[in-house]
Amino acid sequence: MNVKSDIRPSVPVPNDLSAFWMPFTANRAFKRAPRMVAGAKDMHYFSADGRKLIDAVAGMWCTNAGHGRETIAAAIGKSAATLDYAPPFQFGHPQAFELASRIAELAPDEMNHVFFCNSGSEAVDTALKIALAYHQIHKEGTRTRLIGRERGYHGVGFGGISVGGMINNRKAFGTLLTGVDHLPATYDRDKQAFSKGEPEYGAHFADELERIVTLHGASTIAAVIVEPMAGSTGVIPAPKGYLKRLREITQKHGILLIFDEVITGYGRLGFAFAAERYGVTPDMITFAKGITNGAVPMGGVIVRDKVHDDFMTGPEHVVELFHGYTYSAHPLACAAGLATLDIYRDEKLFERARAMEPKFAEAVMSLRKEPNVADIRTVGLTAGIDLAPNAGGVGKRGYEALAASFHDHDIMLRTAGDTLVLTPPLIISEDQIGEIVEKTAKTIRAVA
Ligand SMILES: Cc1ncc(COP(=O)(O)O)c(C=O)c1O
Repeated sequence: MNVKSDIRPSVPVPNDLSAFWMPFTANRAFKRAPRMVAGAKDMHYFSADGRKLIDAVAGMWCTNAGHGRETIAAAIGKSAATLDYAPPFQFGHPQAFELASRIAELAPDEMNHVFFCNSGSEAVDTALKIALAYHQIHKEGTRTRLIGRERGYHGVGFGGISVGGMINNRKAFGTLLTGVDHLPATYDRDKQAFSKGEPEYGAHFADELERIVTLHGASTIAAVIVEPMAGSTGVIPAPKGYLKRLREITQKHGILLIFDEVITGYGRLGFAFAAERYGVTPDMITFAKGITNGAVPMGGVIVRDKVHDDFMTGPEHVVELFHGYTYSAHPLACAAGLATLDIYRDEKLFERARAMEPKFAEAVMSLRKEPNVADIRTVGLTAGIDLAPNAGGVGKRGYEALAASFHDHDIMLRTAGDTLVLTPPLIISEDQIGEIVEKTAKTIRAVA
């Protein structure tokens, strides 16, 4: 409920919105009725017209520690004033090494090396390239095939959309990378509907990898990449035992396993990484988003010791991996990352997410009685709520819900087609869970 002190003065909005071609946005619909935010603090956004909206999606799976964290802002400001930029090729700066060590400490054993980049998409492309180069080092250069999964999302680089499995992200962009295959998605509504956490049904979807190996030959396959919880497609938690099985099969065939933890990293599933929740150590973990609490772009790849060490051979003056970005390990991002990890540790936010998971799941499941709700899935502090499409076609009801939630119900949600996605900051209180569920219910009724 808004109280007067929550309402901020409205901020001026430019009259002309046409120049900015917005990413992954229905531009014309947006510009007719803009959803404009102008400020954020803790669990809330402030709209440009001065309203206070509860943030049910941590920005975009980013601000796990909530908004406007002063220590992060101070660290960024200090870095901007003392070391605005440092070239990452052939030079370094202390905070990059410190941050890499701190990330390695959070990662599973034997994963002690971090390659930095600036986004999840770059992290994915980096991991795929490391996998290909690794097999070359091992004189197994025939291992070039990459395996993704249907409904997977791995960002928007050509590597990421090639292994990704969301049709709209692929179909307009030509032939993509060649030599890519896909595992089936792990979702079967008939067998899994309204599951809390990992569904009992579906570990066998991992066995499809054996079929793919039989089809192509293990000697042609470099890596398998999956999200431990498929987020962007509408929240599909891994079935029980699925990831372990994938690990066994990849290991058996000498195939590298990459977990794309751009969403699941840094506490979303109640652990530093989903790898820990599932007790499975992959060969690489990609991350982004939560590492800086969304405050500065940063991504990266955590690499298993064996993979990293195998690159560290040959003459010492020669570059071991011909890959990197001008802004890899940017000083402002490293400063933000260190301040963010301090907050996660000091406020025990991963543990907090774990403790809140059952309450969140139960509260969100209460929405199953609302009109048109076809399924709800929850895992960690994340939920996907499928609404049946309306007569306007797939995605129309979802879009109407997005607009209604923002303009009429003071809540920021995400939608994937007709699925509403909730993935709030990990600082959320029980009362705020209640508020989010109530506002989501109102939104669902508004588009019935
Ligand atoms: C699993 C996963 N991988 C990669 C990405 C791409 O990240 P970015 O948008 O930072 O490039 C995302 C973004 O949501 C993601 O969810």
